[in-house]
Amino acid sequence: MEPIVAIKHATVRRNGTDILDDVSLTIEAGTHVAIIGPNGAGKSTLVQVISEEIHPLWKPDYSRKLFGRDHWQVMELRKRMGIVSLSLQYLCNSTYPAKEIAVSGFFSSIGLDFHHQVTQTQWQKAEQSLKDMDVWRLKDKPMNRLSSGEARRVLLARACVHDPTVMLLDEAVSNLDFPARRQYRQTLDGLDKAGKTIILVTHELSEIIPGIDRIIVMKAGKIVADGPKETILNEDLLSDVYGTKVFLDRREGLYTAWC
Ligand SMILES: Nc1ncnc2c1ncn2[C@@H]1O[C@H](COP(=O)(O)OP(=O)(O)O)[C@@H](O)[C@H]1O
Ligand SMILES: [Mg+2]
Repeated sequence: MEPIVAIKHATVRRNGTDILDDVSLTIEAGTHVAIIGPNGAGKSTLVQVISEEIHPLWKPDYSRKLFGRDHWQVMELRKRMGIVSLSLQYLCNSTYPAKEIAVSGFFSSIGLDFHHQVTQTQWQKAEQSLKDMDVWRLKDKPMNRLSSGEARRVLLARACVHDPTVMLLDEAVSNLDFPARRQYRQTLDGLDKAGKTIILVTHELSEIIPGIDRIIVMKAGKIVADGPKETILNEDLLSDVYGTKVFLDRREGLYTAWC
């Protein structure tokens, strides 16, 4: 089977700085990856390259294949991906009610327009998705009236609604309270069991569910470590990457880090 993501030599330059610096990355179908690293490391940029929101510099050795193909229509690609990110949260901060935001995951749109024909089944899926994230009670509330944690959960519901193959979750848990985090972890476990590929960007090591076995560490636009969780998540490596002494604890298959 072709890898889901195969990127070679991607460079993204902003204001003369390579915020993504010659990054190559392959992610096989059905595997789960966490991308970690300090603020500004280039994690979100990498995720945006994967989701086609950003195009790297053209270079002779640059290539990018998603699901084994070089070229995609953005809409067609988005159908295979469930995305949660801060930039999406800004876009969704609108007067659309939560249920319309959730169902709009089927159309890769933000909310509904006159030309969207939503089927009964799609509404049912949206309802289930909102219930799974425990925000069904907010279905008629405008997105811009929700707390950021509530909005995050609606976005997670939107990301799952169309049953995508890959989940791209960039800091999807920031602002979630403890019960919501737990629920979110259970959602991830469910996606894992359903055979989805999960690409998770986080600085909360506690969000790295046991099913995630590969860790990619980024710093200053580069991938500085990539390997099995047990090897990568160690105090020396993390202390080096974050530039401060990091302590690590492991309990019930989950990690916590502090400094
Ligand atoms: N459009 C932009 N213009 C200039 N600098 C940018 C732009 N987008 C991101 N950056 C910078 O690139 C670096 C990497 O950003 P980002 O990928 O968001 O990092 P991370 O998600 O790891 O925190 C940061 O220093 C950020 O300020
Ligand atoms: Mg980021």
